[in-house]
Amino acid sequence: MKPYYSTTLLLITFTISATPPPDHARPLKFGLGKPADPHLIQQLDKDVRPDGQGLPPGSGSVTDGEKVYQQHCITCHGKRGEGGISDKLAGRLPDDHFPFSSPEPPKETIGNYWPYATTLFDYIRRTMPYSSPGSLSDCQVYSVVAYLLYLNDIIEHETVLDKNSLAKIIMPARHRFKNDDRLQFNRAH
Ligand code: HEC
Repeated sequence: MKPYYSTTLLLITFTISATPPPDHARPLKFGLGKPADPHLIQQLDKDVRPDGQGLPPGSGSVTDGEKVYQQHCITCHGKRGEGGISDKLAGRLPDDHFPFSSPEPPKETIGNYWPYATTLFDYIRRTMPYSSPGSLSDCQVYSVVAYLLYLNDIIEHETVLDKNSLAKIIMPARHRFKNDDRLQFNRAH
């Protein structure tokens, strides 16, 4: 008798799994989440584009940025951006030198690798300090960006950054990056 029962059970299992669920089994709504609050969307929707679109009002100086850096960044990125438990942020290479595909590449920094000052602002505003991202005011971000650009010999100590001056900065590694236009031209470079 035992083999007979086993076969029956097997057939039943197959029949159940082969039948698609009726439409009414799938609810139109699952009742999860809540409508997005426009105020919250506004808080999150603050990306800055490479051309500077999205940069907020406000400004910041190198001197103020040094204070922000010492208070909020130094523990991870070292005394003057030389790196510590986290990335090195300062340091340039001779202009004709871009050895990042060599077997032992140098550390990527703001001065030798970052293509836009505007996206540096965007990155820091959204992600740093690592343990409390978004906690800096826009003026503090302008200041700390100014200090980091100064440490990388990109701006003078007296420079004050705002949305206009920041967008005008040409980063040393800018010309090393090319737009990926393969979709437009259907060819690989
Ligand atoms: C608690 C440690 C910590 C603190 C404090 C901190 N960072 Fe960072 N930072 C990190 C880590 C970790 C990364 C790498 C994140 C990753 O790769 O996803 C990083 C990456 C960065 C980068 C990108 C480096 C690169 O070239 O890819 C920048 C710029 C930066 N931090 C700036 C700052 C600034 C400015 C502050 C202060 C306002 C700050 N960080 C504070 C941990 C920290």
